[in-house]
Amino acid sequence: MDRISTGINGLDNIIEGGFPKKSITLVSGPPGGGKSIFCFQFLWEGVKNKEKCLFLTLDKKPEGVLVQAKELGFDFQSAIQNNLIKFQFLNINKKFVYESMTNEILSGNYNRIVLDSITPLSEMPIFMKNTENVTMDTDIASQEDYPEGVVLPTRRLHLRYILNALESSLSTSVVTSELPVGSSLLSRDGISEFLADGVITLNFDPTMDRRKITVMKMRNTKHTLKPQNMVIDDGGITIV
Ligand SMILES: Nc1ncnc2c1ncn2[C@@H]1O[C@H](COP(=O)(O)OP(=O)(O)O)[C@@H](O)[C@H]1O
Ligand SMILES: [Mg+2]
Repeated sequence: MDRISTGINGLDNIIEGGFPKKSITLVSGPPGGGKSIFCFQFLWEGVKNKEKCLFLTLDKKPEGVLVQAKELGFDFQSAIQNNLIKFQFLNINKKFVYESMTNEILSGNYNRIVLDSITPLSEMPIFMKNTENVTMDTDIASQEDYPEGVVLPTRRLHLRYILNALESSLSTSVVTSELPVGSSLLSRDGISEFLADGVITLNFDPTMDRRKITVMKMRNTKHTLKPQNMVIDDGGITIV
């Protein structure tokens, strides 16, 4: 099994060396859990190895994301200039957000892709034009019936569509999902954990002032289910 380093200090050791190549890992946790930082580290590792990286952001504009990354010690500016990494904002209020997203995912030959976070997408109806290369579930509507585009207000289809695009690409992906504080769910939607190859949760216990990272699922990988202590510091997440 080919693997790629996660970039998270100490994580590779507990998942047989890294994420399986071409896998999709869902990283879920409450606000402030460290999901975006996890993404920075994953792509920083890619950039270090001269891999092509894509950061799709839905919550924040790229400028804000870049400032946050830089403050933690991940200055992506020169990597952007060298075309190693691209930060793209997806405006979910635009009709064809799915199309621009899948086009980018499938056209760029990216080694690593981050989607931070999937939550706004999983809460809106789909509207899209016919898109090549992506097989979609056509139980509800066939593309021939709707040549101008289709509206599919189904949550499962949404996530399937996004994850299918990531799967059709040759990239290794990390997708984040926002959870309410104290939630025992694996994702906000309750679905993407089944569609993803791996699930990692990031949690904290405010009274103990302690953070935990747990590998809940990782395809083709023997791993512990035990929550691991972690810290966030300049340089990001470290398992301690
Ligand atoms: N330099 C730092 N040192 C220690 N902790 C930090 C630092 N920068 C950010 N943090 C912690 O990381 C949290 C933000 O992580 P982030 O990845 O943005 O969370 P999420 O994306 O899950 O909402 C902050 O709330 C703070 O607790
Ligand atoms: Mg975030």
